[in-house]
Amino acid sequence: MNLTIIGTGYVGLVTGTCFAEVGHRVICVDNDATKVEKLRAGGIPIYEPGLEELVKKNVAEGRLSFTTSIAEGVEKSDVVFIAVPTPPQPDGSVDLSFIEKVAREIAGAITSYKIVVDKSTVPVRTGDKVAETIKRYCKAKVEFDVVSNPEFLREGFAVADLMKPDRVVIGVHSQRPVAAMRDVYTPFNAPIIVTDINSAELIKHASNSFLALKISYINAVANICEATGANVQEVAAGMGMDERIGRRFLNAGIGFGGSCFPKDLSAFIKISEQVGCDFGILKEVQKVNDAQMNRFVKKITDTLWVLKDKTIGVLGLAFKQNTDDVRMSPAIELCQRLQREGAKLRVHDPKGMDKAKAILTNVEYVENMNDVAAGCDALVIATEWDEFKKLDLERTRKELTHPILFDGRNLFDPAEMERLGFIYKSVGR
Ligand code: UDX
Repeated sequence: MNLTIIGTGYVGLVTGTCFAEVGHRVICVDNDATKVEKLRAGGIPIYEPGLEELVKKNVAEGRLSFTTSIAEGVEKSDVVFIAVPTPPQPDGSVDLSFIEKVAREIAGAITSYKIVVDKSTVPVRTGDKVAETIKRYCKAKVEFDVVSNPEFLREGFAVADLMKPDRVVIGVHSQRPVAAMRDVYTPFNAPIIVTDINSAELIKHASNSFLALKISYINAVANICEATGANVQEVAAGMGMDERIGRRFLNAGIGFGGSCFPKDLSAFIKISEQVGCDFGILKEVQKVNDAQMNRFVKKITDTLWVLKDKTIGVLGLAFKQNTDDVRMSPAIELCQRLQREGAKLRVHDPKGMDKAKAILTNVEYVENMNDVAAGCDALVIATEWDEFKKLDLERTRKELTHPILFDGRNLFDPAEMERLGFIYKSVGR
């Protein structure tokens, strides 16, 4: 089919590329001309495992192209996906101005029946507003349908998650767009749930908030483990063997971040208040997450006492492993807290340093993870990169002024670290 994706960010670029990979003809639209030029020249503005080769392959095979013109994309496609940002507002509500602007531009370009699909994460009942907007700004009396099709891509695994989705959610107001939407997704061989638009929009917020709840739950259990001498990883293993619970997203640490969980949680809390159903448990999820960071910083200050003029090494800046994304990163937040306490930082991240440089300043960026510990008074693990498990611990112990390591992601084994002579502090063990 001929598809257009408006917005070539983490969601739009991956989605468009995977659609092309399964045989659709895809036009990716972005209002950032330099980004479009970079993509046309084979450059990839974000890091996602497997994305670069897929983009190159599909551009070469003529199924994937890039433009800044929404009109061009709308005219040449049957289905137009909106994948523009929906950033959080200070009060926790969602900024839908990019969605509204794109809806107006789509309306101005429609001259025959089109399916307009909202892929961006939006508050429930946004689909109705998109439909009203297109109806109001449509030039001709043309027909269209609005569909909700939320994304469930994890950053760092976005290509894998889309090429093999757990499920495809399609929300519609009428049956007319269903066949075409099935044609879009049939090549992925995934279960497809067709429901109403409001339910589809809620599935996204309810799923992400539940995953965040799972993380805050295990973090709260971790604190009880610390107080009682239990091991949260053993507890999580035992819990996860119950298939109703599942082991994933039960990893205790310094808390969740990223451009999704914090934003989706705040938005869901806000929506609930607006419809008169106060979602207290989600407020608790936020509180536990904030407290987790405070507890970890306290662990460091309790051990090192005064941080002023101390040098601390930090491994990890991205909000999680396998991504270069540092938006709402707990690791960045931790660095900034340590800086506020007066510490000097030497930092490393396998992929996130370029993006971190824009928001984390007055730190020393170190190219090789094994060079960070030199001259530091302690080393901190802040992001769960697998490569950090291969850290040269012998060398680290020698190069630290004192063998102190704070493991915010439980990458190492406490008994092993003690055997190696470290003062080792982790989470929930
Ligand atoms: C999330 C959802 O997983 C995805 O389905 C949705 O489409 C977008 O939001 P993402 O934010 O990319 O994906 O990353 P995710 O893997 O969910 O991790 C989010 C945060 O939780 C990271 O900071 C990660 O370090 C943290 N996390 C994750 C934990 O602290 N413990 C865990 O067990 C899992």
